[in-house]
Amino acid sequence: MTITTYNHWKITRDTDGITWLHLDKADTNTNVLSNDVVIELGAIVETLTQTPPKGVVILSDKASGFIAGADIKEFTGYTTKEIALVAVRRAHQVFNRIEDLPCPTVAMISGFCLGGGMELALACKYRVAEDGPKTKLGLPEVKLGIHPGYGGTVRSIRTAGVFAAMDLMLTGRTVDARAAKRMGLVDHAVPLRQLRVAARAMVITPPAKRPLAVWLRLVNYRLLRPWVANILRKKVAARAPQDHYPAPYALIDLWQKYYDDPFLMLDQEAQSIAQLSCGHTAQSLVRVFLLQEQLKALGRSEDFHPHHVHVIGAGVMGGDIAGWCALRGFTVTLQDQKKEALANVIKRTHGLFKKVIKDRLLVTRAMDRLVPDPKGNGLKRADVVIEAIFEDAEVKRTLFKSIEPQIKPQAILATNTSSIPLDELNTVLTKPSRLVGLHFFNPVSKMPLVEIVQSPTTDKTVAQQAAAFTKQIDRLPLPVSSKPGFLVNRILMPYLMEAMLLAEEAVPLASIDAAALKFGMPMGPIELADTVGLDICLHVAENLGKSMNIEVPARLRQMVQAGHLGRKSGRGFYEFKNDKALKPAIPSGYHQPDDMEHRLIFRMLNEAVACWRDTVVESIDHADAGIIFGTGFAPFRGGPFHYIFHMGVKPMLQLLEQLQQRYGARFTPDRGWATLDSKK
Ligand code: NAI
Repeated sequence: MTITTYNHWKITRDTDGITWLHLDKADTNTNVLSNDVVIELGAIVETLTQTPPKGVVILSDKASGFIAGADIKEFTGYTTKEIALVAVRRAHQVFNRIEDLPCPTVAMISGFCLGGGMELALACKYRVAEDGPKTKLGLPEVKLGIHPGYGGTVRSIRTAGVFAAMDLMLTGRTVDARAAKRMGLVDHAVPLRQLRVAARAMVITPPAKRPLAVWLRLVNYRLLRPWVANILRKKVAARAPQDHYPAPYALIDLWQKYYDDPFLMLDQEAQSIAQLSCGHTAQSLVRVFLLQEQLKALGRSEDFHPHHVHVIGAGVMGGDIAGWCALRGFTVTLQDQKKEALANVIKRTHGLFKKVIKDRLLVTRAMDRLVPDPKGNGLKRADVVIEAIFEDAEVKRTLFKSIEPQIKPQAILATNTSSIPLDELNTVLTKPSRLVGLHFFNPVSKMPLVEIVQSPTTDKTVAQQAAAFTKQIDRLPLPVSSKPGFLVNRILMPYLMEAMLLAEEAVPLASIDAAALKFGMPMGPIELADTVGLDICLHVAENLGKSMNIEVPARLRQMVQAGHLGRKSGRGFYEFKNDKALKPAIPSGYHQPDDMEHRLIFRMLNEAVACWRDTVVESIDHADAGIIFGTGFAPFRGGPFHYIFHMGVKPMLQLLEQLQQRYGARFTPDRGWATLDSKK
């Protein structure tokens, strides 16, 4: 066996004359197709073209997977279409040459095979994939505001047919090896132990390629494409408006216009992705991706390996936190003063597990990890103790005082409080520095962010361990200081209150929600308030009102007094039927206030600036990340600060001042605006 080594690639030739191309990208755990990886591959393919071997197998030497995609960090350098086009055309050239090799070529896939990695696999004649839980295949570029750009648009449709390929490319979802086999994306899905044998067999006795089914070839026909394309556009429009997310529409256009001529389609794919990748949406979504990586990295460094979590309080939050930790593999004991609360959580969690885990045995195993513990026996064994009882400082203090002597000295002691400063809670502890906030959001299974709340007293190592634990349960840790509302609630409350003031001015509720959706929020503020619970909104608003300029609308108080608490009581601002808000239609001819969107959004932006100035978060990046992952703030805008910088600090400040003149003190620009310009 001969071996040639490059910086990122290694070539071995076996006695059958098969060339094995191993990718092991230098200085990283994950293979990505950075420009230098592609350039090296180009040089290798050049020599293979000159002296073709019996066959080529492309594989990864990383335990983490095959290839995760292009190097997303390089996208931030694509400031013009021309710069992006150089990198895209290079990859096209290399992948086209792989496709043209006269010998069998096989991608041997184990673990993730995504984006550019999938496109490289599609340039091979055959693909074999490990049939295992780690294998994930997909073309998720749309999540970054682009579409496949290394020949993947043409090759995926040719290989799997337009419906399966578009489904992957338009939703960005990933599939396992078996599903990929059913779609025709891979030729074999085999257990790991047979993977090499399967790849080798493809080279030694290459099977004939099965053509696409007749009906799938038919829909690619020129006269039918506009019809199918319109169906696809309608589906996309329901999720992603074209103004905000141009990539899926560009992808559908490509297929509709150019599918007859693969060379032209490849060329147009390159033009389109180069254009998209330097656009505002893609640059913002790339920023969101990199922010997410930044938060993940905060939980990576700490050498902390907990096994047992003890949760006290089996209510809305404690129950969900306990279930989530059990789902993520931890042993969890759950304590509550009421046995019915524990029984409720067990029932609710079983429902959740059945939804998210396909295998029944695994559901049983996960349920076995969640142990009702009315007496709190788990306290002394736990590595992480999370308190999620009533939001009452005295009740919480009494609890902390009684449990501190029972818990292990090195265990984390955390509170899920959403509004009480840690320094008001840790006074009863013999070691106050051990108390940290782990502020989860509701619903825990859907909200990716956890605020790691620290007071000046909190031990830095404890905070780091809390971040590490958060990462281990697959959530994003965001360090925040223990100031009223922390980051997310402090941003959200003024926005929700402004929406309620608009409602008091008789603006139709659906119109208020529609304005926020148009801006790009995932849910309107009125429906969000109903979903969070109006009692909770009132509680948080009153709490924050003590330290902030928050006017609590009278209607909110009245509704809470009347027991109209929102989704959970079946009635709030909206009526709810089958858990869906029944939104009364906006009266025809109604003209909404011109400044409604500004009123809603500027309350959030101004508070974001205040949080940053007030060092609730340590950087603008953390503020943007927290607000995107904690509130769903329009991701294609890259976060409130990215949005302000994109629009220009001065013109944005002027708009805010106009609102202040019209509506008074609640729009007074925070003094942080004055120094913002220099922070770009
Ligand atoms: P909840 O009222 O649904 O549940 C509280 C549970 O704690 C009840 O089952 C109660 O029986 C139990 N409990 C009270 N005192 C106890 C004690 N001494 N020992 C054992 N069990 C006790 O409350 P929820 O909404 O789950 O809130 C819990 C905490 O989470 C609060 O601090 C709240 O501010 C915070 N939070 C709430 C959010 C929400 O959306 N509900 C979001 C984020 C944080």
